Amino acid sequence: MRHLISAADLTRDDAVLILDTADEMARVADRPIKKLPALRGRTICNLFFEDSTRTRISFEAAEKRLSADVINFAAKGSSVSKGESLKDTAQTLEAMGVDAVVIRHGASGAPYRLATSGWIDAPVINAGDGTHQHPTQALLDAFTMRRRLVGKDEGLGKDLSGKRITLVGDVLHSRVARSNVDLLHTLGAQVTLVAPPTLVPVGVDTWPCDVSYDLDRVLPKSDAVMMLRVQRERMNAAFFPTEREYSRRYGLDGERMAKMPEHAIVMHPGPMVRGMEITAEVADSDRCTVIEQVANGVHTRMAVLYLLLGGNEPAVTHTRPTGS
Ligand code: CP
Repeated sequence: MRHLISAADLTRDDAVLILDTADEMARVADRPIKKLPALRGRTICNLFFEDSTRTRISFEAAEKRLSADVINFAAKGSSVSKGESLKDTAQTLEAMGVDAVVIRHGASGAPYRLATSGWIDAPVINAGDGTHQHPTQALLDAFTMRRRLVGKDEGLGKDLSGKRITLVGDVLHSRVARSNVDLLHTLGAQVTLVAPPTLVPVGVDTWPCDVSYDLDRVLPKSDAVMMLRVQRERMNAAFFPTEREYSRRYGLDGERMAKMPEHAIVMHPGPMVRGMEITAEVADSDRCTVIEQVANGVHTRMAVLYLLLGGNEPAVTHTRPTGS
């Protein structure tokens, strides 16, 4: 594996290897000394052109636990504000000895361009690009599902065959939804999207999943329900029902959660908009894995970095971005 651009680039065996490696990383995190020497002497740059809390800090924690040297670059306060291009920014960083680049960018396709343009030689990891992909989010979500729905030890070497996963909300603007649909399908899960009609992407009929507009009918048949953030910053007001209407039809409250099977979990990639997408009662309940997902993000990103820069090599090809 040279780059990680899209969840669609991962085969089942690639994905299971990453999840199994993440499991090993999680065991290291349980030890008194959490650090591994695997990436000692390597320098990784976190290149963030969009805001982030979880992904940026999680990558930094993962890199430090693998003993890499870390450079954090935020577009805000950099020469990007003077008009410097992605190419010149990346080449400037590589000239300073960067061995890998983790990039978040508002433009769908920016990580693909960086990985395939020949501008730099370093491996590129997509930390979220526009509405296109967020592959490490999908991997940490799959890791969380496998641990909770298959078992912590029983899950090793296994996929998510037969698990029924429901994604709810703003699918149109969600790179998390696209990445999860791709990866969950590869791992054998049955995915259903539930969204207001104005927030369902054109062409969704070609995606490997079902679409429903009736959350209450889908909930009793779900092993995991992932609520998606409503991305008002990417949205034309005409796309959106009123907050009250959205919450009434697509929000998850205690009454709705009670319709889910007893073993089923509630997920959210964060940041959550409490009240509208998910009530505090649900977000703070034992069935909600939001904080577990954050912890698992560090293990999963350690696994990706280790496999890209220091470990075994699953074969991965690249898929040209098609997200808007
Ligand atoms: N889930 C996620 O990508 O969160 P951040 O935007 O805080 O990184």
